[in-house]
Amino acid sequence: RPMIARTIPALRRALDGLRVRKATIALVPTMGALHDGHVSLVRLAKRRARKVVVSIFVNPTQFAPTEDYGSYPRTWKEDLAKLTAEGVDLIWNPDVGTMYPDGFASRILTEGPATADLEDRFRPHFFGGVATVVGKLFTQCRPDVAIFGEKDFQQLRVVARMATDLDLGVKVIGSKTVRERDGLAMSSRNVYLSAEQRRVAPTLFQAMKETARRLRAGEDLQTAQTHAIETISAAGFAVDYFETRHAETLAPVTSIKDGPLRILVAARIGTTRLIDNIAV
Ligand code: PAJ
Repeated sequence: RPMIARTIPALRRALDGLRVRKATIALVPTMGALHDGHVSLVRLAKRRARKVVVSIFVNPTQFAPTEDYGSYPRTWKEDLAKLTAEGVDLIWNPDVGTMYPDGFASRILTEGPATADLEDRFRPHFFGGVATVVGKLFTQCRPDVAIFGEKDFQQLRVVARMATDLDLGVKVIGSKTVRERDGLAMSSRNVYLSAEQRRVAPTLFQAMKETARRLRAGEDLQTAQTHAIETISAAGFAVDYFETRHAETLAPVTSIKDGPLRILVAARIGTTRLIDNIAV
């Protein structure tokens, strides 16, 4: 069974135990409600380091007041069973008061990928909250490597940039998106979808794949993207963005020659917002 730490002193003691004989440590940050996407990160972590730490912390600072912090799924028992089955060494599960004690007044501000005009346009509070909590998780756990999903591609770029800029000594590794059989990217928020919404949700992945095909076949970017937005809208989504960007910097591009490229989408159906992305 994994060790479980809920306070900073308990975390220190547990990490000291894991660090014997200079064992390398991989950290997998999560907000719980674990699914097979998270499990794939844990498996990659096991291949990249001797010891695996998974953090479970629903981070209030990355949610806007209007968002789903209060109702975000919390499934501790199931999460613990999954992490036990995967042979995780330590679960770091602080409460909000431990992560953000009274008087907490610092924030990690990021630019570059965090201001790419994608997620940040619709969730302006988001990357400040993510960078701050991930910065804290990195300094608390001092891992050698940390695994993040490509599912949240802009987040992966933001965190990698921050780790480099702040000399945190953590190697940030991206892990492939795990999908349902029909192509829908796994997400803790998929449980919010009604049966009908769930049925049309794979449209996002299909539209990105078709756009990648069209771009490789020489169609111009605007035409291909406009077609995709029409397809996704016709399925009942309100599209926040559907954009093709440089895969490293997330800078805008005008043609396939500006590659490596990444197609990124965010769209709302009912009250649920889904994001996804693929390589071109
Ligand atoms: P959470 O949404 O729980 O995701 C934790 C990690 O799992 C992230 O790196 C995310 O990209 C990855 N992930 C989610 N769905 C995935 C899928 N279908 N395939 C592969 N990886 C997937 O992202 C967060 O939490 C938070 O913002 C966090 C980084 C923990 C900071 O609070």
